[in-house]
Order: sequence, then C-alpha cells, then structure tokens
Amino acid sequence: VPTAGRVEFRDVTFGYPGAERPVLDGVSFVAEPGQTTAIIGSTGAGKTTLLSLVSRQYDPQQGSVAIDGVSVSDLGRHEMASVVGLIPQKPYLFSGTIGSNLRFGRPEATDAELWEALRVAQGADFVREKTHGLDERVSQGGTNVSGGQRQRLCIARALVARPRVYLFDDSFSALDVATDARLREGLGEATAGATVIIVAQRVSTIRSADQILVMDGGAVVGRGTHDELLESNETYREIVES
Ligand code: CTP
Ligand code: MG
Repeated sequence: VPTAGRVEFRDVTFGYPGAERPVLDGVSFVAEPGQTTAIIGSTGAGKTTLLSLVSRQYDPQQGSVAIDGVSVSDLGRHEMASVVGLIPQKPYLFSGTIGSNLRFGRPEATDAELWEALRVAQGADFVREKTHGLDERVSQGGTNVSGGQRQRLCIARALVARPRVYLFDDSFSALDVATDARLREGLGEATAGATVIIVAQRVSTIRSADQILVMDGGAVVGRGTHDELLESNETYREIVES
C-alpha cells in the first residue's frame, strides 16, 4: 500500500480573529501515514481548531503546518480537497442530490464507487431505501436526512475523494457501539496507507490508535499509546476514567 499524507505541526500558535488569547499555543506533533492519531481533550481544548488548520480554514499566526513537507498555505483550494478529507463535527450537506454530495471531491467517481463508500460508511441501506436512491434530493438544512445519516454521507464523501489525510472530528461518538465497530473496521481498510486523525471520546476508539495526543487548554500535554499515557499522564487518566 503506498503511504502518504504525513502531517507536521511545528510550534503552531493560533488565535481566532479579534480574540485576545490564542486558542492553540506552541503545538508540535507529527501524524504518520498508515497510522491513526487520536486526539482527546475536554470541550474547548482546541481539537476542532487544530483540524481546521490542517484543512486550512485558518492559517496559524506562528509556526507551520505541512503535509508531506509542503506547507498547507502553498496548497490551492482545489488541491486541498484532494489532499485532506474533513468529516466535520457538525456534518453538512450541499443542496443537490445524495450523489452530487458524494462526488464533491471527485466528480468523475462512478456509481459503483459511491455505493462502495456508502457501504463502508454504513450508509448504503438508508440510501437504498430512498425513492430515488443516489438521485434523491437533499437540501442544506437536510430535513429528509437525519443527523446520523448526514454524518455517514459526509464520511462516504471523504472516502470517495481518496485524500491522503482523513480528519474525523468526533464522527463516531454518537453511533451505537455495534455500528461504530463495523464502521471503523471497514474504514481501516478503506483508509489504509493514508494519515488518519480522529478526534474521539470513546475509549475503544482511542485505545486502538497508534498515537494519542492529549490536548488541554490549547496545548498538547501528552503523547503516546493508551498504555503509556495511562501510566504517565494524569490528564489522560482523568479523561478516560471519567
Ligand atoms: N473558538 C472561538 N471561535 C471559533 C471557534 C472556537 O473563539 N470560531 C474558541 C472556543 O470558544 C474555545 C476554543 O476556541 O475556547 C477551542 O474551540 P474548539 O477547537 O472548537 O474546541 P474543541 O476541543 O473542538 O471542543 P469540543 O470538544 O466541544 O468540540
Ligand atoms: Mg470540537
């Protein structure tokens, strides 16, 4: 399996426009291709903000964010879509059809590829039940699609695009345990070779990661495997034992 998508943060400091205090302060880490990096931390710790710098919704005030050695600020918007696949914490759909939503990052994808991505994302059954299947219309508000279904469509959309870096922002916490397990098993295969960064709450998700970053107040306060952090990191122990 070819591997690519190494993400490197070097001493990144970032504050939202107009805010006094930075939200991320001196963050450095590497997320390796072929590996899963889990990010854990209490609400407001800066997890979503960190992902938004990878997908370049914002640029850091200090430090650098690079993918495979290239600063993300040198990637164009279109290029970005094929490099980074973000599954946002609040998943959204564009007005159009289910199919057009799934093809967003790779317009030339075939129907068979869309169904395969839906299968992995545990979304094939509900799309099949729609009167018009892939041609079913959805709106931005998405009243005919539930929150959980929207999330699966966003996961499938990212898979269809085949990015080098996947960013899952708390995408699995709302799923029941069985669906979560099936989904992550399929994802392991579908994302093999890419860099996977998962913001997670469930201990089972975190435990299986190759590397865990513990965030607190905008800083990375711990890094390691589950066992290492249990031994050495009090913030981690508090989070997983709560
Ligand atoms: N923040 C902000 N402006 C935004 C988004 C976030 O000022 N547009 C602030 C938040 O109020 C918070 C900090 O940035 O103090 C970090 O937010 P975020 O990265 O969203 O935190 P998460 O760790 O993702 O929190 P959660 O677990 O609740 O998703
Ligand atoms: Mg968040």
